[in-house]
Amino acid sequence: MRLIGIGRTRPSLQPFHTPRLHAIPPRDVIGYAAAYAGAWDPDALSWLGWPERPQAELVHWLLDVTDLNRDQRSRELPASFRTVRQWRRKNSAFFALIDPADGRCAGAVSVDTRNGEVGGWLAPGFRGSGLGTELFRAGARIAHDQLRLPTARAGTQRTNAPCRRALQAAGFTPTDGPAHHTLPDGRTVEARWYAHQAR
Ligand SMILES: CC(C)(COP(=O)(O)OP(=O)(O)OC[C@H]1O[C@@H](n2cnc3c(N)ncnc32)[C@H](O)[C@@H]1OP(=O)(O)O)[C@@H](O)C(=O)NCCC(=O)NCCS
Repeated sequence: MRLIGIGRTRPSLQPFHTPRLHAIPPRDVIGYAAAYAGAWDPDALSWLGWPERPQAELVHWLLDVTDLNRDQRSRELPASFRTVRQWRRKNSAFFALIDPADGRCAGAVSVDTRNGEVGGWLAPGFRGSGLGTELFRAGARIAHDQLRLPTARAGTQRTNAPCRRALQAAGFTPTDGPAHHTLPDGRTVEARWYAHQAR
């Protein structure tokens, strides 16, 4: 198994399997780009509050990266995407969620290495079939097993029903947290908080 170091003082991140997906720290730029493209539709951008407005054609192209075309698409990536550094977030244990059927990226989950805060998304074609539960279970597992954090936390918009239901199905329970959250695009929204304790 390949271990991928993400910093001098942080533990190495190890790939693992959920029942239907593989969780893998991206190895290269196309791995990151395909993972982020899963959140570049209007619905996810609105929940996450990211100001990006990527071209639909590019998003479609990235969501269609599979084991078969990965090497070629990696060579064809726009020059502006070319460094892993531009994608890697400080203090973030980031995993792409891969569909083992064809290597397509189904989504991503990340955990803040300082406070165990879990975030994530599924690409549009993978939503609505219970994979959100696997995603948040994977987040808790990363926090507890890999980062050795006793508590994982997650905050979401009050009105994000799929996210709240998926968190609860994954064993997160309501907890205290700031009532409002300002998103990266400047909107302030009502927040709800959840926590997951290590067994
Ligand atoms: C949040 C997300 C990961 C959830 O994953 P998912 O696989 O789509 O979740 P599901 O569609 O299976 O729904 C999860 C639960 O919400 C319920 N649900 C779905 N849509 C709903 C709606 N509009 N109203 C009420 N409940 C809803 C489902 O019935 C399911 O409940 P159940 O497990 O009790 O049956 C996914 O929707 C996503 O990536 N959304 C965009 C990005 C995002 O919102 N990220 C989280 C930011 S905090």
